Amino acid sequence: MAYIIGILSTKGGVGKSSIARALAVAISSSGYRVRLCDLDIAQTTTVDWYRRRLQSGGDSLASVEIFRTVDEALKNTVDMLPNFDAIILDTPGRSSVDTYKLAQAAHLIIQPTSGTLDDLTPAVRLFHELKAKGIPYEKMVFALNRITTEAEASQALEYIRRTGYDVLDGIIQDKAGYKMAQNMGRTLLETNFPTLNETVDELMGNIIKRLTKQTSL
Ligand SMILES: Nc1ncnc2c1ncn2[C@@H]1O[C@H](COP(=O)(O)OP(=O)(O)O)[C@@H](O)[C@H]1O
Ligand SMILES: [Mg+2]
Repeated sequence: MAYIIGILSTKGGVGKSSIARALAVAISSSGYRVRLCDLDIAQTTTVDWYRRRLQSGGDSLASVEIFRTVDEALKNTVDMLPNFDAIILDTPGRSSVDTYKLAQAAHLIIQPTSGTLDDLTPAVRLFHELKAKGIPYEKMVFALNRITTEAEASQALEYIRRTGYDVLDGIIQDKAGYKMAQNMGRTLLETNFPTLNETVDELMGNIIKRLTKQTSL
């Protein structure tokens, strides 16, 4: 069975593509075949990043491809399902993808957010909307990214805690080291700074644990 993981947010710049790519590399480096789907056809951030990765000699992934819609990504992947252990969907935001369709199909929905109310408020609203449409609440989880201070982290945790949704352990700070790594076709897991990589390792481990739990229910 292929695990389907959707990375969603209505906001740009919160780290959807960054987390999607790190997760693809994390799962792939454990020996699994991963298909990373870039649904952001206007920006093709993930496909462009993959070109940089291959050009700079980074490890390859089984598949990194661009799709116009969730249907197309899943139709093609379902046909080829036996070829993949995990399918990761990196989305551009809800305006151009069918968020509900993605949420239904995914075993796990990860929403990256920063700790600002500008990001947290619509992030919680999106999960509420999906829940109201019948998406199980346990499928939806937040990942905190681009956090700048301890205070921001604890305020964000408290805010989300009151909504009842879970936040994955492994809070990623906003650091130049992450930007540098991604410029070179690496992921948040592969910076030059072991402490930065450790945090993301922790987050990836928790995503995989959560996925295993969700799919064994
Ligand atoms: N933890 C981080 N620290 C510093 N820069 C980050 C971090 N996470 C992402 N970025 C940078 O922030 C920008 C937006 O990230 P991206 O993953 O493209 O977000 P999205 O896909 O949600 O629009 C990119 O330039 C990326 O390199
Ligand atoms: Mg993106």
